[in-house]
This record gives sequence, structure tokens and C-alpha cells, in this order.
Amino acid sequence: MSTIDLPTPGPRYFRDVSDVPSPLESPQGNVRDTFNRPLRDLRISVTDRCNFRCVYCMPKEIFGRDYVFLPKDDLLSFEEITRLVKIAAAHGVEKIRLTGGEPLLRKDIEQLIEMIAGVKTAEGKDLDIALTTNGSVLARKAQSLKDAGLQRVTVSLDSLDDERFKAMNDVDFPVSRVLDAIDVADDVGLGPIKINTVVKRGENDQDIVDVARYFKDSPFIVRFIEYMDVGTTNGWKMEEVVPSAEVISRIDAEMPLEEVSPNYTGEVSARWRYKDGGGEIGVISSVTQAFCSTCTRVRISTEGKLFTCLFASDGHDLRALMRGGCSDAELETVMAHLWRARTDRYSELRSANTADLPKRDKIEMSYIGG
Ligand code: GTP
Ligand code: 5AD
Ligand code: SF4
Ligand code: SF4
Repeated sequence: MSTIDLPTPGPRYFRDVSDVPSPLESPQGNVRDTFNRPLRDLRISVTDRCNFRCVYCMPKEIFGRDYVFLPKDDLLSFEEITRLVKIAAAHGVEKIRLTGGEPLLRKDIEQLIEMIAGVKTAEGKDLDIALTTNGSVLARKAQSLKDAGLQRVTVSLDSLDDERFKAMNDVDFPVSRVLDAIDVADDVGLGPIKINTVVKRGENDQDIVDVARYFKDSPFIVRFIEYMDVGTTNGWKMEEVVPSAEVISRIDAEMPLEEVSPNYTGEVSARWRYKDGGGEIGVISSVTQAFCSTCTRVRISTEGKLFTCLFASDGHDLRALMRGGCSDAELETVMAHLWRARTDRYSELRSANTADLPKRDKIEMSYIGG
């Protein structure tokens, strides 16, 4: 397969070094953005590498053999990540999600988990620490992850049909190994485990009911995710999105469902349960029913840029500040200012006006994390 000559995506070259505002301020555990949204979730991409090439995330045409991933020194160190976790927690963050790329490819990730597990929320409680993985090396790491203090994992799984699963991950990885890993992770206590299924029309939409049926009557919660226009390399088209309403009606036709109220305000996934008591599923409708109004998520890219939206085209270079010798008080002040200035609501704007949104660079999900 031919590769396009694109050494690294544009956004990496942006250098937006935040100035430190004055006066310095100490965090109150409840910073709010322009829409009064608090900061509650921190998602950290610990590597931009992945051993899969999912067609909707890291298409081979772009992420081919010539693709240049970040060199090691460009990645945030574990100390730097932990420092940012502490600062975010002081501003109100309660949940940490480690993502990638594939986070389990980051060397000694258990060490990082141990370090983060020592951080407390502004109210003195433990942080909720989760990790999103493709499951490929989860079976052999599950126990050490649990021992390090990881609470739960979310596993991506797009089909139960081995041929289609292999076509979607595009590296011939067999589905049985991911299914085994899910069981191992459950056995060691990394639950409640959620299963993320991105649905792309013409690619795996024929598998929706099978996936739901497989996980019915199990402790696992499948969430069907609308294929998003994240990044610039996946060639997203609206026709390839299967609206969550269609997902629900296809499952409901075979296994009747009823809606359940959310676990907490701002939950990304809408919950449904089987009327016969067979457990629950979720749908994540970022295209047809945007959830920006309650979005409490901040993201830190692999090289330490803070993004206030999954669809942002530029981040704020916290690594430059840290490596330039900023104090904790200075970093706390920068983070507070960045959050307070936040106006992002990309998905809502896109739903309201798909055609008129200006074309612009967006960061890749493998770099910023899901
Ligand atoms: P928990 O509630 O902690 O289990 O996680 P979650 O519901 O936040 O779900 P998860 O982190 O697994 O995210 C699932 C998927 O939802 C992601 O892979 C994205 O496809 C989508 N998603 C998550 N956060 C956002 C967001 O802020 N904006 C948009 N547009 N999509 C998101
Ligand atoms: N649309 C929706 N979700 C995506 N993910 C990656 N790319 C996309 C996309 N284009 C999410 C999936 C996957 C996680 C790692 O990232 O949920 O499980
Ligand atoms: Fe890798 Fe996850 Fe992206 Fe697939 S979706 S290429 S497993 S980071
Ligand atoms: Fe949050 Fe941006 Fe996603 Fe909206 S599009 S939910 S603001 S990350």
C-alpha cells in the first residue's frame, strides 16, 4: 500500500506557549468555563503509537511505515504527567482516563498508575482511574495494572466476526484474543468493564445485534459509538454514521429495551436496559445528539499540550512551561485561566450547521486520546 509523504500532522508544529497570567492564584477545586461547566475529567494520551490501524482512527494510508511518531524525549515523563494530574485535581478533576494511541504500549505504564493513584481529589478522595485499551496486550498486563491501582478498563471491540474485526483493526488481530483479555481483566477485578464499539456504516453495522447479544446477561456494558469526524485523516462522511436511534431500534427489535436515567450529569453515554433484566447497553451520540453543554473534559496530548476540546486545532504547551521551570502555582494559574476562557462546543455547532463549519486542522485522536 502506498504511503502519503506526511512526516507528522500539522498541529504538532504549532507552538502556543501560554504566558503565565498574574496575579497567581490558588485552586479552589471548582473552576468553571464560560458556560459554567466545571472541570471534572482529565484524559491523558500516554503514547501516540498503536499496534492497530483502525480504519476510523489510524488509517494505514497515513499511519504507514514512513509515519514518524514522537521521539521519546518529546513525551511527557511520568513525573510531568503526575504533576499535571495533581494540578488538575486541585481544580476539581475527579476522574483520570489514560488513553493513547494504545496506552499499554507505553513502557512501565504501571509505574505511572502507581504515581497517579497517590494523588487525591480537592475533597481528599481517591481519583477514579480508568484506561482505554484495544485489549491486545491486556491479558498479560491485567494483574499488574490492578496491583498498581488501576480501577477499571474500557476495551474497544468493533465486531465479533473475526474477518470484519481484522479488517477494522487492519493488522489481522484476531477477535478471540480481545475477548479472552476482557475475561482476564474481569477476573482480576478491573470492572465494571465497558466495551466501546464504534459503528461505521458498511464496515461493521451488520454486527450491532450480535455484539449486543454476546454481552447481554454479562457484567460488561457495551456502548455503541457514532463514528465521528475527529482528526483529518479518516475521510469521515455523514453517510457512514449510524445514528444511535437506529442502533437502539435494531437491538430493540430483537431484545426489547427501555431507557434508563444517567448515572451522573454529563454522562457521555445514554443508558438503555433490557426489559428482561439482561443488563444494560449505552449509546454515544456525539454526531446526532451532541453533549457539549455538560462537557467537563480536558485532554493532555502525548507531548503535553492541553486541549479543551476533542476537536480543537491547537493546544496549550504545558510541557514548555514545565521544562522552562514554572512553579506549581504558575501552572495552577495557567490551567485556571485556560479553563475559564473555554468556549468549545464543537459537536453542537457541527450538528446545528454541518455544511457551514469552516474547514480546519483538527488533531488526531491517537495523539490526543479518545
Ligand atoms: P466512563 O463514563 O468513565 O466510563 O467513560 P466515558 O463515558 O467518558 O467513555 P469513554 O471514555 O470510553 O469514551 C467513549 C467514547 O465517547 C470516546 O472514545 C469518544 O468516541 C466519545 N467521547 C468521549 N468523550 C468525548 C467528548 O468529550 N466529545 C466527543 N465528541 N466525544 C467523546
Ligand atoms: N469516532 C468515534 N470514536 C473514535 N475513537 C477513535 N476514533 C474514533 C472515531 N473516528 C474512539 C473509540 C475507540 C477509542 C480508542 O477511541 O471509542 O474505542
Ligand atoms: Fe489504536 Fe484505539 Fe485508534 Fe484503534 S481506535 S487505532 S486501537 S488508538
Ligand atoms: Fe466536549 Fe468538544 Fe466533545 Fe463538545 S465536542 S463534548 S466540547 S470535547
